[in-house]
Amino acid sequence: MIGRATAAAFVAAGANVVIADIDAEGGGKAVAELGDAARFITTDVTSDAAIDACIAAGIDTFGGIDYLVNVTTSYLDNGLETSRADWLRALDIALVGAAMFAQKLAPQLIARKGAIVNFSSVSAHRAQVGRFVYPAAKAALAQLTRSQALEFAPHGVRVNAVAPGWTWSNVMDALSGGDRGKADRVGGPFHMPGRIASAEEVAGAVLFLCSDAATFISGAELPVDGGYLAMGPEGTDNPIARLAG
Ligand SMILES: NC(=O)c1ccc[n+]([C@@H]2O[C@H](COP(=O)([O-])OP(=O)(O)OC[C@H]3O[C@@H](n4cnc5c(N)ncnc54)[C@H](O)[C@@H]3O)[C@@H](O)[C@H]2O)c1
Repeated sequence: MIGRATAAAFVAAGANVVIADIDAEGGGKAVAELGDAARFITTDVTSDAAIDACIAAGIDTFGGIDYLVNVTTSYLDNGLETSRADWLRALDIALVGAAMFAQKLAPQLIARKGAIVNFSSVSAHRAQVGRFVYPAAKAALAQLTRSQALEFAPHGVRVNAVAPGWTWSNVMDALSGGDRGKADRVGGPFHMPGRIASAEEVAGAVLFLCSDAATFISGAELPVDGGYLAMGPEGTDNPIARLAG
């Protein structure tokens, strides 16, 4: 859902977009909404051949590729009990796929002085009950962003990450039974505005990082989290007032 909102933001800004996802049904719906500026290419990011084919089709369709936005993730995570196979599968989807996409797109991005945006998360920075794999993958992506930024800098390519807080998305939709109000009630207290984010708010930050308004921003991990990471354990509570009360 965040990927779809990001594609829509780029199209609204005048860009053409290739949506690469393993979910052909969801991808088909997304391009149907976005029209001729968007093309969907069924892509499994754990397959080098699929990434190659996606890049070739994107260049063939639109003449070149300026930006890479790595939204793909796995939420596969069984905490302490996660099997080796699940660890490897989740990291392949969430981390290695992004690394391989950047490696294979490097000649395009360098030639066109483009930019990369990776997706981290507030989960990369905080311990969360029962979650081992997803936070580790996101922390690795945040570090990969810094390494890639240094590598690409001499070529005029910027690399950044966004770190969203709780965002209304497919996973929230599924967990809450489609109840956005419930998601805001449960997740809101962890964010200063008292609600979770909309996908469009994250998409806007991705677009900004790719834009000429961000030409001196590289290696950054931009929180799009309503102050989640800025707050400590006290959250929006005022314990001093309670202590004195
Ligand atoms: N939703 C949140 O609250 C939240 C918070 C922080 C960060 N994020 C990050 O934002 C990004 C988008 O999150 P979302 O909630 O919209 O996720 P989502 O599940 O809607 O999107 C992930 C996409 O990855 C695709 N995918 C899975 N395996 C794939 C594979 N092998 N090859 C290609 N595509 C594959 C899925 O089909 C899906 O469309 C993710 O990187 C996520 O970690 C989300």
